[in-house]
Amino acid sequence: MATQEVIWNTKPDIIIETGVARGGSMIFMASLLAAMGNDKAKVIGVDIDIRAHNRDSIENHPMSKYITLIEGGSVDDDVMEKVKAEIPAGARVMVILDSDHSRDHVLAECRAYGPLVTEGCYLVVADTVVGHLTEETALKKRSKLWFQGNEPLAAVTQYLTETDRFTVDPVINGKLVMSSSPGGYCVCTKA
Ligand SMILES: C[S@@+](CC[C@H](N)C(=O)[O-])C[C@H]1O[C@@H](n2cnc3c(N)ncnc32)[C@H](O)[C@@H]1O
Repeated sequence: MATQEVIWNTKPDIIIETGVARGGSMIFMASLLAAMGNDKAKVIGVDIDIRAHNRDSIENHPMSKYITLIEGGSVDDDVMEKVKAEIPAGARVMVILDSDHSRDHVLAECRAYGPLVTEGCYLVVADTVVGHLTEETALKKRSKLWFQGNEPLAAVTQYLTETDRFTVDPVINGKLVMSSSPGGYCVCTKA
């Protein structure tokens, strides 16, 4: 709900998401851009491992014309070049980071993708809730585990000390207390 509110309010032309998995969030965001009538809008998804059956489902989905898939490590130089090449001059750009949730990786993504976010749009760091869970309360039935200090909240907290372009949006984040990404919606306030 927060993501659709942000997309409606800020009307990005390009949404970049790291972490595609089965493409659910990409298709959801593409459908919002389509509903808003932005025919030139695009959701660019980056994933280190796009499984053939997932690619097939995404590429054959009615929303596929709004979607571009890029396979590779999200902060690899060649991937960054491909992502930048997809952004038309003057486009409004939003970024969602939802790939490897370790602190260092999310911080590297913040540093690589934060500068692509345009004024008025959002940098969303997903799954910041992990930073609020203790080792006892953290989710453990996962292929990869992240604990307090080595997770997205630690990364975005550090990133916000390195840049003055973003502010954690108090209104959106106030609605996210019971969610997976509290404190993760940062609005870009500077060109
Ligand atoms: C949480 S899932 C993404 C879920 C998706 N955003 C959604 O909501 O439908 C995380 C994805 O990140 C990908 N991933 C993990 N490490 C990565 C990396 N270094 N670069 C790019 N993608 C990565 C995984 O392959 C996995 O598909």
